[in-house]
Amino acid sequence: MKGIILAGGLGTRLYPLTHATNKHLLPIFDQPMVFYPIQTLVQAGIQDILIVTSGPHSGDFIRVLKNGKELGVRHLEYAYQENPEGGIADALASAEDFADGEPIAVILGDNTTDADISQAVEKFRRGAVVFLKEVTDPERFGVPVFDRKDRKKIIRIEEKPKKPRSNFAVTGLYLFDNKVFGYVKSIKPSKRGQLEITDVNNCYIKASKLQWSELKGFWTDAGTFGSLFHAGAYWAQKKFGAGLQEED
Ligand code: DAU
Repeated sequence: MKGIILAGGLGTRLYPLTHATNKHLLPIFDQPMVFYPIQTLVQAGIQDILIVTSGPHSGDFIRVLKNGKELGVRHLEYAYQENPEGGIADALASAEDFADGEPIAVILGDNTTDADISQAVEKFRRGAVVFLKEVTDPERFGVPVFDRKDRKKIIRIEEKPKKPRSNFAVTGLYLFDNKVFGYVKSIKPSKRGQLEITDVNNCYIKASKLQWSELKGFWTDAGTFGSLFHAGAYWAQKKFGAGLQEED
């Protein structure tokens, strides 16, 4: 399976930090943010990776990641999203040639997790898989609505609902078959003017082809000051707990 990291957008929620560089190159404790999704993919055996980026600081990625070898990436490509705020599904559209008809694992560049997705990746054949995580603030995310009779079935995903119908967030980690690019072309911009990944997932739900799995372990996005701080604190504690020593 090939991996795609979506690292476009302008990161306006993190101004003034993102005037200096791209959001995904800001530190989460001792590593640039984008290292974490790369590691999630590499740990799942995915070594062919495309990074989709945009905005004024997109050139900074090459300085930091180079050809990706230091992070265990065999083949690293870059793509440029012309409209930096076109939406997550718009960023994904730039990955069609790279995917070349194969199934893909997609992860948002500001998501960080220590969950192992290898089994889901190995088992995946067709349709789509979303990974859920229970959260205290679901209104910040895509939120699944479960079937009243069959709690295992998602009947719809709502993007940032004022009244969330469950306490789960749809995390920014997805497995898609090659139908995804057709669905991306079929959707229209949302009220905030973006092509939403939630609308793509709703296409899979309509086709009865969406499955879900609960993400085991720590997960957060890091696109706000609060979540960036929380992510840094988690990884610092985890690494110091594992014996990392401060050097002089
Ligand atoms: O983190 C999980 C959440 O991510 C999901 O629960 C939501 O359903 C999904 O819409 C998304 O919500 P956010 O509001 O957090 O998305 P945000 O605009 O912060 O973008 C997240 C990442 O997606 C960003 O770090 C880079 C990438 N992106 C975003 C946009 C808008 C792009 O590559 N291009 C874009 O145009």
